[in-house]
Amino acid sequence: MKNIAIVTGASSGIGEAFVKEICSVDDKFDEIWIVARRQDKLDALVALTGDRRLRPVKADLTDASDLESIGKRLEAGDYSVDLLINCAGLGKRGNVADNAIEDIAATINVNCQSLSLLTKIVLPFIKTAPVKKKGGRIINIASSAAFLPQPGFAVYAASKSYVLNFSRALGAELAAKGIVVTAVCPGPVDTEFLGKATGGRETEFTGIRKSFVADADKLAKASLKASFRGRRVFVYKFSQKVIHFISKAVPTGLVLCFEQKLLKN
Ligand SMILES: NC(=O)c1ccc[n+]([C@@H]2O[C@H](COP(=O)([O-])OP(=O)(O)OC[C@H]3O[C@@H](n4cnc5c(N)ncnc54)[C@H](OP(=O)(O)O)[C@@H]3O)[C@@H](O)[C@H]2O)c1
Repeated sequence: MKNIAIVTGASSGIGEAFVKEICSVDDKFDEIWIVARRQDKLDALVALTGDRRLRPVKADLTDASDLESIGKRLEAGDYSVDLLINCAGLGKRGNVADNAIEDIAATINVNCQSLSLLTKIVLPFIKTAPVKKKGGRIINIASSAAFLPQPGFAVYAASKSYVLNFSRALGAELAAKGIVVTAVCPGPVDTEFLGKATGGRETEFTGIRKSFVADADKLAKASLKASFRGRRVFVYKFSQKVIHFISKAVPTGLVLCFEQKLLKN
């Protein structure tokens, strides 16, 4: 039986950082499936790491037939999935009234629907273990945007609330099988994400957000450790832990007023 890892969103940013980290520290995988639409980027990652275990899987996760073909590939071989990282995601800034319908649909589709469907498809192949022994692991990349409603980024923030709550509930369902589900909640991370979120208007974090920006490689390393330790929710960096605390301690209406004021300035 082949022991494998599957990483979506592997063609750039945080997903790519996860793949590099797994290649450098983990020798227990026979294959590492790297999933995204941009084949050239996946091939470049294979060349960069020189890791012969990497298997590029070109797939649009919003396409039902591409999801189905991942399931068929798993069924056709003798695979045990030890690690599934759902990292593919996107968001578009702007008020809902100004967002394009296709951008709203793509955000919900990739961040929520395809994440859930791929998890469902992979689940039968995930390694199980008696309680308190280590079974397989699922890491879902949520965001600190999951903690609060965000005017100006409403669909994205709500989609990440879904990822966070889906992960917590799934983790409870799978605990008896020894499978750990970790929702990772970083703040801003230095990747292609911002440029895509603003239609290229902004490509780097500025102002106060700059001091909160995390490095993708460090985030990936810390997240893998957190999942190995069995963490259910991993909020990355102190600044985001503060936001997490505020989201629990302060009434949401009050935070919304503050956010609106920030937007006006
Ligand atoms: N960067 C941040 O500030 C930040 C903060 C918190 C959370 N996150 C979350 O972290 C995750 C990774 O984001 P990132 O920062 O690494 O951004 P990124 O560099 O833009 O990476 C996004 C990845 O998602 C893949 N993807 C998007 N749509 C897809 C689709 N339809 N089918 C298959 N793959 C698709 C992209 O691959 P292709 O384009 O090649 O398909 C790419 O590999 C996302 O879930 C994001 O919400 C990011």
